[in-house]
Amino acid sequence: MSSNAVLTLASLATASAVRYDGAVSHVIRTALVAECLAGLAGLDPQEQEIIRLATPVHDIGKLAIADSVLLKPGRLDPQERTEMERHSSIGADILAGSTDELLQFAALMARCHHERYDGMGYPQGLAGGELPLAVRVVAIADAFDAMTEDRCYHPGMTEEAACGILEQGSGTHFDANLVAVFVDGFARVRSARQYADQVLRSGAPADVVGRFYGLPRQ
Ligand SMILES: [Fe+2]
Ligand SMILES: [Fe+2]
Repeated sequence: MSSNAVLTLASLATASAVRYDGAVSHVIRTALVAECLAGLAGLDPQEQEIIRLATPVHDIGKLAIADSVLLKPGRLDPQERTEMERHSSIGADILAGSTDELLQFAALMARCHHERYDGMGYPQGLAGGELPLAVRVVAIADAFDAMTEDRCYHPGMTEEAACGILEQGSGTHFDANLVAVFVDGFARVRSARQYADQVLRSGAPADVVGRFYGLPRQ
């Protein structure tokens, strides 16, 4: 992977991290938990690194979603939900067109991180093995983080409760093998989350993203 691709991802990750209050913690924690789950699931070190570097841009398409939808404190109505769901294909469009393997994976992951194992997700309704294992890994890390953090439309649930929801969705929403690996290896997931919290104490979102990507501080 080229250093240009990493710099591109760092710039887009900063844009994602400042989109709304708290976005930076979601992108960094999701990335470090996805990397951890990739390791627990036996993906090789290079795949783990690609997942870590690409995951912070998974929600980059939220840049194009109106505040009235993205920051709505209550439930979204069907029209608003359709609008919100556009963030995955918009993100893929933002990242499309590179010949770099890392950016190609980032584009795929942006498009597919809300697909479900049973094919009931969006935008394409891809099922099971149609989705690369690395994308299924990110989908679990993303959903877990979204459940545990406070968002404008719900207070965060405990880690135990969120593991319970993953288990309820095992084999339907999520890859059953990955859910089992996640729950069995939860001590390491918790350590990854604690390390994320340490990175998040680096300062403003741009400082956090800079530290995450190992860039020199401005
Ligand atoms: Fe998303
Ligand atoms: Fe997300």
